[in-house]
Amino acid sequence: MATIGDLLRAGTERLRAAGSESARLDAELLLGHAIGADRTAVVAHPEAPVGRLAADRFEGDLARRATGEPVAYIRGFKEFYGLAFAADRRALIPRPETERLVELAEAEVLRRLAAAPRPGSPPLRVLDVGTGSGTIAVALAVALRRRRVGEEVELFATDDSRDALQLARENAVAHSVGDRALFLEADLVPRGVVTPWDLVLANLPYVRSDAVDGLPIAASFEPRRALDGGPDGLEVIGRLLDRLPDALAAGGVALLEIGSDQHAAIVELAAARLPGWACSVESDLAGHPRVARLARTSGAIGRDP
Ligand SMILES: C[S@@+](CC[C@H](N)C(=O)[O-])C[C@H]1O[C@@H](n2cnc3c(N)ncnc32)[C@H](O)[C@@H]1O
Repeated sequence: MATIGDLLRAGTERLRAAGSESARLDAELLLGHAIGADRTAVVAHPEAPVGRLAADRFEGDLARRATGEPVAYIRGFKEFYGLAFAADRRALIPRPETERLVELAEAEVLRRLAAAPRPGSPPLRVLDVGTGSGTIAVALAVALRRRRVGEEVELFATDDSRDALQLARENAVAHSVGDRALFLEADLVPRGVVTPWDLVLANLPYVRSDAVDGLPIAASFEPRRALDGGPDGLEVIGRLLDRLPDALAAGGVALLEIGSDQHAAIVELAAARLPGWACSVESDLAGHPRVARLARTSGAIGRDP
């Protein structure tokens, strides 16, 4: 009977030959998936024997990975903000850099609640635009529940992909926050909603169209419209900026994820589309520009002429 060590060596070799840049890690994760253990157990017990069924499963998963399919789709989940999110081809796989946006959103919500304690004030309204697998909305809802924040916050999330929304709802239910967030099909911001949002969050597509095909092969398994940000990468985000004067309440803030090379471009775009608004950019843990923060300054009220 083959051992964990034997299978790991052979699997790593196979994935390396297929072009994976993370062959050893992929093999560890996939073997853990096949034997029903986590990666630490796989690394710690190279001598342990692996049964035929698990070895066959590992073999099948290696074959999928060798075609470029992402490990998250093969395992069916991805860790994000300390949670396991169901992941499949209906939506983009959550990325670690998006955790920065959730962190900033959580801090912003807590700051606002502390400044205007409820009850007495209306609920804080938060909108996650382009929610995908529910990444931001679900992670935020769980984080707020841990801090015992409940009806003081109303959480909404949109996507224009029905498939993605279905996955988002599944993730919300799996994390017991299905009743904490409302998932709506919409082009960016739902139309006809009278009360604007205090906080608009978005990780919208921001890869330039001509760069999408050059992304690592794993990205070709993800929905293209989750990645393609148009000719300059900022087309969808630009359309959201146009909607902010109506969507954001007075004193509201938008936190938008951007590409690490889009700092200057987002500042320029905000100046052009939202004159008089403040735009600053927060960095991620790696020190890369990552989240644009947009707010009306006191002089800029309502929609510009
Ligand atoms: C980069 S993915 C991010 C998904 C998720 N927010 C995350 O961080 O994992 C962008 C998402 O925006 C959605 N999207 C693209 N254009 C949209 C639009 N005009 N209105 C609503 N959602 C849109 C896509 O379907 C996709 O789910």
